[in-house]
Amino acid sequence: MEVIVTPSSGLHGEPKIPPDKSISHRALIIGAISKGTSVVHNISRAADPNSTRSCLEALGVRIEDFDSGVKIHGKGLRGLNKPSQVLDAQNSGTTMRMLAGVLVGQPFESVVTGDASLQRRPMERIIQPLRLMGARIYGTETLTAPLRIFPSKELHGITYELPIPSAQVKSALLLAGLYAEGETVVIENLQTRDHTERYLGLETERRGMQRVIRVVGGYQPQAQVVTIPGDISAAAFFLVAALIVPDSDIVIRNVGLNPTRLGVLDVLLRMGGAIDILDLRESGGEPVGVLHARSSSLRNVPIPREIIPNIIDEIPVLAFAATSGEGLFEVRHASDLRNKESDRIAAIVNNLRSMGVEVEEYEDGFAFEGPVKLHGTVLSGCRDHRIVMANALAALRAEGPTTILEAEYVSISFPEFWSELRKLTGQSSVKS
Ligand code: S3P
Repeated sequence: MEVIVTPSSGLHGEPKIPPDKSISHRALIIGAISKGTSVVHNISRAADPNSTRSCLEALGVRIEDFDSGVKIHGKGLRGLNKPSQVLDAQNSGTTMRMLAGVLVGQPFESVVTGDASLQRRPMERIIQPLRLMGARIYGTETLTAPLRIFPSKELHGITYELPIPSAQVKSALLLAGLYAEGETVVIENLQTRDHTERYLGLETERRGMQRVIRVVGGYQPQAQVVTIPGDISAAAFFLVAALIVPDSDIVIRNVGLNPTRLGVLDVLLRMGGAIDILDLRESGGEPVGVLHARSSSLRNVPIPREIIPNIIDEIPVLAFAATSGEGLFEVRHASDLRNKESDRIAAIVNNLRSMGVEVEEYEDGFAFEGPVKLHGTVLSGCRDHRIVMANALAALRAEGPTTILEAEYVSISFPEFWSELRKLTGQSSVKS
């Protein structure tokens, strides 16, 4: 599907953002292995969490819908059934990596696969530490999916320092730790999103720059009643659009404000973005609030290495924000961006260049000098939801119309993206 986006003369209103994708995956997986029936209000119905849901259903978990949420009939740690089919995580790395942590503890064989993009993504990062725990998990020759998992006689706890900051790897190990003999200790040098530890109520300790998370084997999670907040990674697209399009003023309610996800706000505020954080409160173990954003003159700021894991999903949108900022915008130490749903460094660089920006590409990032005028053009979405949405907002401040290709990919995390954008721009700028 193609969408044509023309320059906007201002965004106004209160966009509805989807429920947090990361927390939705966790609510489904942890609900499935909990004791009792979990009630999850405001669960994401986007394609990625739906992939997690259908894999869990194939493992015998009953998940019932009600208006805005689901009831998950937990099977306990040891109650999952052998699936009669290959589990398909489709485009979702979080599904594949987190589910692998659960599957290595099961007394049955399973196979997890995904679409062409997911089959290219690195799985060594979970295969290697899960094997250290005694798991029998195998990938292809290049250690990619499909993953084949066999029952292992016994899993044992390990102490593992994450070589790459990854919440998905951390979560896989913590989930496997529930099935292991003894204690599993995961150490992170750079903090990644902490939704799994929060959801499981795990003990965490700070040791200087490091965080240490512990889980004791055999710990049985209990069913919970939770309300999932809005996804700050989805909100980021509209926040940036409001900052860079003149005469904009928007309010986004019910946004998750977990500190491990606030890097994008930190960067935008340091860039001089007029964003107010209002009504900060706690809901279901996660901080939640309201964001009010208005058009701003931006200046580009340094992006420190430590913040990269915290903004990993928002780098595409920050790159386009920076095209209207004054000065150098440089992202380094972000080579894992090449391992996402697409090679996001290449995608950002190619799309910026085709809009007329002179960009330097590095193995681990990119750099350019702002502010720059953007020219309307045809932009590839690289079959990647976040690239498609970042392209859309770049188009709002380009000269002339821009054709956004593969526009349907927004369904991965934000199915209502186009209709919400249409409302914000007063219908004028977005045509399918
Ligand atoms: C996620 C973690 C991040 C992020 C992804 C969601 C999660 O990936 O990019 O969109 O829900 O745990 P990594 O853990 O691989 O960095």
